[in-house]
Amino acid sequence: MNAPLYSIPGAAPAAAAAAPSPGADSGARTVNQVLAESQIETVMDELDRDLVGLTPVKARIRDISALLVIDKLRRNLGLEAQAPSLHMSFTGNPGTGKTTVAMRMAQILHRLGYVRKGHLVAVTRDDLVGQYIGHTAPKTKEVLKKAMGGVLFIDEAYYLYRPENERDYGQEAIEILLQVMENQRDDLVVILAGYKDRMDTFFQSNPGMSSRIAHHLDFPDYAQGELLQIGERMLDGMHYRFGPGAQQVFAEYLALRLQQPHFANARSVRNALDRARLRQASRLFADRDRALSKDDLSTIEVADLRASRVFAAPAA
Ligand SMILES: Nc1ncnc2c1ncn2[C@@H]1O[C@H](COP(=O)(O)OP(=O)(O)O)[C@@H](O)[C@H]1O
Ligand SMILES: [Mg+2]
Repeated sequence: MNAPLYSIPGAAPAAAAAAPSPGADSGARTVNQVLAESQIETVMDELDRDLVGLTPVKARIRDISALLVIDKLRRNLGLEAQAPSLHMSFTGNPGTGKTTVAMRMAQILHRLGYVRKGHLVAVTRDDLVGQYIGHTAPKTKEVLKKAMGGVLFIDEAYYLYRPENERDYGQEAIEILLQVMENQRDDLVVILAGYKDRMDTFFQSNPGMSSRIAHHLDFPDYAQGELLQIGERMLDGMHYRFGPGAQQVFAEYLALRLQQPHFANARSVRNALDRARLRQASRLFADRDRALSKDDLSTIEVADLRASRVFAAPAA
């Protein structure tokens, strides 16, 4: 009747898990003391500053952080409670910042002492599920071992469940995950990511998984103005800038690209900028005898953007 209990080695021993964090027994009494000791405000401020938009996501992360800080204050005063459940689902279209936010979340959880290491291991079905009988459990356990002490981020998690195939090995991975999510939740946080509609269907068919996910965060598509801001931040981060008129052309580019198939939010912005850099490089490369200034080398000109096929007249 009882399924074997999986315990992933490398996890914090149960005794240590009861008083896990640096500073948990510090006697902090105020929210500010916990914030100062854990320095999570730095991470939250960086999250606010570095990431454009995402207002609802940022608000949820502040709420979760508040819960954890209060939980810590309670523990310091000996008020017992089960470790809060921290498994999450991040739903939204591609390029809406799910992976990026998950990495920040891992840092916050680490600084507050909810995970020992704070790293993020990102996987998909193929990393967890084997092709042959007997291959899935070792694969899944290996991944879990790597993720212990941090966050396991499962992208497109619903592919683990394939109801059309009765003997799909994905089910085996799900069962192992469920046990570890329950029994070792003081040292591993699982984040399931993917499209909202598919995740909803997955949860309907997998109530066990659904009941273990405490926080559902929905990542909205970015508005056009946000995409433009994201592009400017990205350029700045790579030490490039738009030349005269180029920002306006990039805005036009985005307006057109948004309407086209396979648009992937911030990821499409990054790809567009990468291609603009390629064109800039070819343009400069062609001019063999010119001494290239810092300005030349860091400027994306209108022509570097206009050459995109997004601007090509639609086929008649
Ligand atoms: N709000 C944002 N502000 C700035 N850059 C962002 C933002 N959201 C996403 N990005 C950038 O866009 C790219 C794709 O984001 P990612 O987190 O991988 O999206 P997802 O996991 O939802 O597909 C990354 O390079 C990331 O840094
Ligand atoms: Mg991603």
